[in-house]
Amino acid sequence: MAASFDPAAARGRSSRPVGTVTRGTTNTNRLRRMDRWIAHTLGPALRSLPLPPVAVDLGYGAAPWTAVELSGRLRTVRADVRVVGIEIEPERVAAALPYADPPLLTFRRGGFEVPLDSAGPGGARPLLIRAANVLRQYEESAVAAVWERLCGRLAPGGLLVEGTCDEIGRRHVWVALGPEGPRTVTFAARLGGLGQPSDLAERLPKALIHHNVPGRPVHAFLTDFDRAWSAAAPYGAFGARQRWVAACTSLAGSWPLVDARGRWRQGEVTVPWSALAP
Ligand SMILES: C[S@@+](CC[C@H](N)C(=O)[O-])C[C@H]1O[C@@H](n2cnc3c(N)ncnc32)[C@H](O)[C@@H]1O
Repeated sequence: MAASFDPAAARGRSSRPVGTVTRGTTNTNRLRRMDRWIAHTLGPALRSLPLPPVAVDLGYGAAPWTAVELSGRLRTVRADVRVVGIEIEPERVAAALPYADPPLLTFRRGGFEVPLDSAGPGGARPLLIRAANVLRQYEESAVAAVWERLCGRLAPGGLLVEGTCDEIGRRHVWVALGPEGPRTVTFAARLGGLGQPSDLAERLPKALIHHNVPGRPVHAFLTDFDRAWSAAAPYGAFGARQRWVAACTSLAGSWPLVDARGRWRQGEVTVPWSALAP
């Protein structure tokens, strides 16, 4: 059964974390594509902040691997970045503590209220909140309120990255939101073994997955992408990467893609949220 979220209750004074414990499935290396994109997209902001930036891995799961890896990845961009793993399930917090490396990597219990130390760097406002494979287990009706709540916690120039992937991170789709709301949707795949772009449909974030039906923008996008992928089949002789780049080049004729060849070569493509919004 999907977890629910009661925004009215969440506005109360309860000190209980906001949200619901859900399955804790995770894996090493699972979020590498998302980590890479975050490091690229937030790179300028990470480098330019005068104080150490704060990044949150919200709902890291039964083991702390995704937070540990996010910390490692972001430290290549900004050596003093502080990653805070936040998990609503207390035993998962206890299991993560031996992996802490304060002040660079810490773990604490919490939920969508995103508890942070107001005396810490960034004044308790994170530059990044990443919530991967968390909202997937909630009702679709919860998404808007959770997004609003999390976006309201961001530092100026910050980003909420919320999405879904398969168990070993071969197929990934995420929404990126700024303090003002949703901005983009990114599709990312391991291209070897990809049948067609619409294979990513089963990993659409909660806000989109129930709208992948004829007549809706996300369905039209994936249909056009499959068509472009099919037309680009001859490029497959040079490898799946060349085929993906050719398909994206063609897709850019009819969809307002916001990235270009450099990211397409990574097996990504990013579209404005406004083009796919249900
Ligand atoms: C499927 S795991 C995802 C783990 C990891 N993010 C990944 O992608 O591999 C989802 C985790 O989110 C946690 N969770 C669910 N709602 C939450 C909330 N409101 N705040 C913090 N953690 C939450 C669950 O307890 C669970 O451990």
